[in-house]
Amino acid sequence: MKKFLVTCDPGVEDIAKEEIAKKIKKARIENFFDFQGKLIVYCKSPKKLIKLHSIHHIIELKKVVGLKKVSLAEIYNTLKKVSIGELRKKKSFRITSYRYGRHNFTSMQIQDVAGRAIQEKYRKKVDLKNYDVNIRVDVIGDLCLIGLQHTKESLYKRFVKKFNHRAAIKSTLAYAMIRLANIKKGDILLDPMCGSGTIPLEAASLFKNRIKIIAGDINEKCILGSIENARLNKLDKYITFLKIDARKLEKFVKKVNKIVVNPPYGVKSGKKKNLKSLYRKFLCSVEKVLAKDGRLVVITLRANLFRNLINKNKAFKIVHERVVESGGLYPHMFVIEKI
Ligand SMILES: C[S@@+](CC[C@H](N)C(=O)[O-])C[C@H]1O[C@@H](n2cnc3c(N)ncnc32)[C@H](O)[C@@H]1O
Repeated sequence: MKKFLVTCDPGVEDIAKEEIAKKIKKARIENFFDFQGKLIVYCKSPKKLIKLHSIHHIIELKKVVGLKKVSLAEIYNTLKKVSIGELRKKKSFRITSYRYGRHNFTSMQIQDVAGRAIQEKYRKKVDLKNYDVNIRVDVIGDLCLIGLQHTKESLYKRFVKKFNHRAAIKSTLAYAMIRLANIKKGDILLDPMCGSGTIPLEAASLFKNRIKIIAGDINEKCILGSIENARLNKLDKYITFLKIDARKLEKFVKKVNKIVVNPPYGVKSGKKKNLKSLYRKFLCSVEKVLAKDGRLVVITLRANLFRNLINKNKAFKIVHERVVESGGLYPHMFVIEKI
């Protein structure tokens, strides 16, 4: 068994654990100390990890060392002793380093000394762009983690997107929301404010034609852009696109079983009054189209506003709420059911 450090969105570690346990039967999963957004996974190879929908990066750990003096010289000596067999048949490498805690050196300096140690030991060339092996040297407090990073880009960038939305969410968060929606075969799933289509793309990649997916937006540019994105990912045949007003869903769709949505937060527009009206009208409209045993999953930064509206609305109850990290912001995910 190899030991991997995998990263995910802070706040959805439980969902990542569930996916790993389901997809890699013999994997052993542990927390990484008390850190959010990181898990330790013991499994045979990174092959199955790379196919997961909930994780960002995969680092195969070669050595975890407790540093005594926590100095650059000690990091250099540690790197000199580590064996990285994978380097032998390769031509080039790079070092990537993250540093958490108080140290009298920077992550650039770690990369520098670690790079020197590896170059002297293996006589390989440093290539920051077209490297064969990416060696991770992270220093967390007095711990030094040395490993091989198997991911070049974060796995959340799995969809090709010609049309981007400035407020798009990561596909890993879309995955978490879809899991919270508890989608069943035959369900009709609606994202009525789809932007660049992240949620419908994620749902289509998971369920294909086992469910019916409807993606809508009030902005025609978003609809056309989402269609283009779906085409590029060969997922367009699984999604129906509609120009829709989320305040009047009943005009556009009949009953749906699940609604998974990322409404505007009003951060850029700053129009709080309009946002309250949008959220209130959207909820009234959801009441009309959501099936009796349906679920609404929402991610929003306007948690207080949204919670107050739900609590005032006699038709709904909050069955789950959590905070996640998304691009340096801390939005809440809500799971709502009909009373
Ligand atoms: C935060 S963005 C969604 C981003 C999307 N999740 C993504 O990953 O690209 C919110 C979207 O809601 C849409 N929107 C705002 N008001 C709407 C309304 N009344 N009906 C439908 N869509 C609306 C906006 O056009 C915008 O595309």
